[in-house]
Amino acid sequence: MASRILVLNGPNLNLLGSREPHIYGRETLADIEATCRKRARALGLTVEFRQSNAEGRLVDWVQEARGQFDALIVNAGAYTHTSVALLDALLACGLPVIEVHLSNIHQRDEFRQHSYIARAAKGVICGFGGKGYEFALEAAADLLVPGRKKNKKKKTT
Ligand code: DQA
Repeated sequence: MASRILVLNGPNLNLLGSREPHIYGRETLADIEATCRKRARALGLTVEFRQSNAEGRLVDWVQEARGQFDALIVNAGAYTHTSVALLDALLACGLPVIEVHLSNIHQRDEFRQHSYIARAAKGVICGFGGKGYEFALEAAADLLVPGRKKNKKKKTT
């Protein structure tokens, strides 16, 4: 059975495409979802995409993910920098978590440079726009698809 990935998106990410495009680009969340679906298929994963502006909803989804999904990809938006509740839910869920941000949060305002949820993440990908979600799917496949890492071709020259 294909490994199941839940991709969670936090507040204001529904506005992608028109929201500060000089920072977040012109791609909409639906564009990113479509690209991820294709990429996931090629990687032998299934993907479910969700977005909410509500912190509690995100916490509920993380709690419910156990047993239904094999890994989480999370762009928590601004809750990244504020939410101990989301951190606790991610720590409790027992699933591998990959944190994603479109922008390079380390080049931005000081308050964006700290992530509460990073403590629960296997790794953090930021600064590559929507492409970061694809990189996160690759990382999830490396973690979950048996034999995948081993079979990757080595460059000979
Ligand atoms: C973001 C970075 C956050 O600081 C911000 O609040 C967002 C988006 C990103 O993807 O770059 O909403 O998570």
